[in-house]
Amino acid sequence: MGPVPDLDDRAAACANRLQRADEVLLASHIDADGLTSAAVASSALERAGIEFETVFEKQLDPEAIAGIAATDYDTVLFTDFGSGQLDVISEHAAAGDFTPVVADHHQPSDPEDCHPDAVVTTDGYADTEYHCNPLLEGINGASELSGAGAAYVLARALAETADADADVPDENRDLAGLAVVGAVGDMQAVGGELIGANAGIVAEGVEAGVLDEGTDLTLYGKQTRPLPKLLEYATEVPIPGVSNDQAGAIRFLDGLGLDLKTNGDWRTWADLTDDERQTVASALVKRAVERGVPAGKIDSLVGTTYTLADEPVGTELRDASEFSTLLNATARYERADVGLAVCLGNRDGALDRAQTLLANHRRNLSEGLTLVQERGVTHEEHVQWFDAGEAIRETIVGIVAGMALGTDGVDSDKPILAFARKNDEETKVSSRGTGPLVGRGLDLSAVMGEASRSVGGDGGGHDIAAGATVPAGKEQEFVEAADAIVAEQLG
Ligand code: C5P
Ligand code: C5P
Ligand code: C5P
Ligand code: ZN
Repeated sequence: MGPVPDLDDRAAACANRLQRADEVLLASHIDADGLTSAAVASSALERAGIEFETVFEKQLDPEAIAGIAATDYDTVLFTDFGSGQLDVISEHAAAGDFTPVVADHHQPSDPEDCHPDAVVTTDGYADTEYHCNPLLEGINGASELSGAGAAYVLARALAETADADADVPDENRDLAGLAVVGAVGDMQAVGGELIGANAGIVAEGVEAGVLDEGTDLTLYGKQTRPLPKLLEYATEVPIPGVSNDQAGAIRFLDGLGLDLKTNGDWRTWADLTDDERQTVASALVKRAVERGVPAGKIDSLVGTTYTLADEPVGTELRDASEFSTLLNATARYERADVGLAVCLGNRDGALDRAQTLLANHRRNLSEGLTLVQERGVTHEEHVQWFDAGEAIRETIVGIVAGMALGTDGVDSDKPILAFARKNDEETKVSSRGTGPLVGRGLDLSAVMGEASRSVGGDGGGHDIAAGATVPAGKEQEFVEAADAIVAEQLG
């Protein structure tokens, strides 16, 4: 039995189909979850002795699918996308271009938009013969299983169906670490912790010895940032006199009576002993209390953390959150090859190249956030939006929008829409919401899908985060349509 029993039959059907293929084209998405999905799937295919080639797409639009259909592959494995494009994929399948096998967690297309011969219906969602998607089994695709998780469930099934002479270590359980990086990269942790099907994968990874689950400081950068930087940049929970305050962070650390330097250089959190960590964490909580930080925020300073036990201490690869950011820094900048090589065991010194890309990515995120702060957002009644034009890359504008939500002038009670220029004809839109808004009925996947189609574009995604492409010049009309749909959802 796999880590997600409800999906086992679907995964087994997919695995059996892949075992029968002569050669498989593996197509995946260009973010952290898409890269880890591809790494999990390609490792499992390789171990099962199935020939394959891997390609990455920024977006699985009709042109990208047509390009895939034009290849000689008769079996295409889509990971971290494919479900939301079953409308187009089913046409190609019915035309005999290829057999789709899909391991995804996005909302599937409307069955009415699909080719009837290649599609069936499950709970109003389009479904296909080989389709491993948590939403079809009542599992939440935004918080309980990611694309990499769906690929992991498939990998476990591939291990079970592999030939007896195939070399499959530990029934592919060692791939659980990558699946967790994908889930964390898609921000699936709820209150800091992976839940549901994701928790089942964590348990398998811990059992396989590739993952450690612990309670620790939740600040980003525990492996790689010198302590003063760890605290200075910790803006998720702003602590007056420490966050955004280089001198303050150093004064705070100097006042603890610990020796936190080695040969004059500040150590990282990963370098500290348990006792030293305890001392720093307690002092930080005490400082936050003294300076009036709200209790709920203080609680979120400490939470569940996921450590990749086999990766070197002090590298991004050791921490699921840092690993996922490192991956976003590659594929979102057209260097998916580097990210995939990192996932597959740092092949050819890929980590060095990824770290250079990471420095650039972090600079872009920080400049993007500053831009939103300076220009501000436009408030409609039910949504707020900004247009970054060419100033923010369309592949990271969604990350910036998510990071902006709840900062000065950006209301966390309204979803945010962000535009970025794609080319002369098309504009990319990203949208981000919050858990409480989804609780009140927000479904950004429906908003982006319906609003974009009403102006001649297309889109989809998850309830809490979704995207679309719209024709250039239709932005204002799109905002009005989105505002009306959100009003309906929340009203
Ligand atoms: O492809 P898609 O699944 O790639 O990516 C999910 C996106 O949704 C990520 O960019 C992630 O930041 C966003 N998300 C979010 N908040 C959540 C869950 C996902 O912003 N709670
Ligand atoms: O794609 P998604 O929206 O999940 O990405 C979240 C992003 O937030 C990560 O790529 C990471 O770079 C960024 N982040 C950051 N600093 C933090 C926390 C998150 O840059 N302290
Ligand atoms: O691009 P962005 O980070 O805003 O995407 C948010 C989510 O919406 C991702 O899960 C992405 O796969 C999905 N999306 C989609 N269709 C689009 C654009 C984005 O399903 N046209
Ligand atoms: Zn994903």
